Amino acid sequence: ALYVVGVDMGATNTAFGIVDARGTILFQDNIPTGNYSTGEEYAKVLSTAIKGLVTKNNLNGEIKAIGIGAPNGNMHAGAIENAVNISWANGIVVPLAKMITEETDLPCRLTNDANAAAFGEMVYGVAKGMKDFIMITLGTGVGSGIVANGSLVIGHDGMAGELGHMIVVRRNGRPCGCGRNGCLEAYASATGVARTAREYLELNPGRYSLLREIVHRPLTSKDVFEAAEKRDELAIEVFNFTGKILGETFCDFITFSSPQAIILFGGLSHASDYLLDPLQKAIDDNVMKAFAGKTRILLSQLKGAEAAILGASALAWE
Ligand code: BGC
Ligand code: NA
Ligand code: ZN
Repeated sequence: ALYVVGVDMGATNTAFGIVDARGTILFQDNIPTGNYSTGEEYAKVLSTAIKGLVTKNNLNGEIKAIGIGAPNGNMHAGAIENAVNISWANGIVVPLAKMITEETDLPCRLTNDANAAAFGEMVYGVAKGMKDFIMITLGTGVGSGIVANGSLVIGHDGMAGELGHMIVVRRNGRPCGCGRNGCLEAYASATGVARTAREYLELNPGRYSLLREIVHRPLTSKDVFEAAEKRDELAIEVFNFTGKILGETFCDFITFSSPQAIILFGGLSHASDYLLDPLQKAIDDNVMKAFAGKTRILLSQLKGAEAAILGASALAWE
């Protein structure tokens, strides 16, 4: 039989798996993404790890190709371009697909991680059969994959669909990792949520919140979610604020490509009700009449690294 390898590259962890033609991840492993001084070094470690997994499972000679989903991935160039959250790729272009091919002798294709997740969702998940949808990944960063008329929007330069860097606050917006101010990512990412919580705590020093008990380490979005689960009002307000910004922004996405659904994926989407209720309300209150009630907000059906591994593997099959 023939198999492909799908790679989900995150800012901290890289997960990869051997996938069969039906889209089953048979074997999986991971390596850290950081801790290297150059892209060459990362490419060598990843290639060795992939070859190790293949050999261990007696699949030498049966792997057809490798597909990679990576932050700031350029599908045309097969390169990672200016990935701010990865030290060895910050400010430069790393032609990772070519490097992996040199190390493994296998054809390799690379795309943006959120594009890969969108592709995985379209072939194997909740977007099966959909021709127009937008995938939004809410994690350390905010990524997106736009599918229009049945195909991913790639753009003339291979970088289209960076909706996490749409500017949603024009005046005094928060600084974003991309070097600009007011991007959606600065508000709706996991770090954005933690930052909102810190701001709420600092602006209202007298106000009670469970989150005040966390003093020995930096606050995380998970803390905010757990506090919301315990009916902590400040934490719930943080999600109301985040959901509202997301919903208002989605109104623009809706007028832009009239998607059948906007699919949420990633760490933050687990805060579902706290985020989804204000998000849906912001859409209902603000969407242009012509689009009212036409776009569904859905949660991804694929878990963890699965969506991007499968998406990247689907790319490898191509
Ligand atoms: C990057 C995107 C990526 C997203 C999620 C953003 O900061 O610009 O390319 O898809 O983070 O990793
Ligand atoms: Na994208
Ligand atoms: Zn930005």
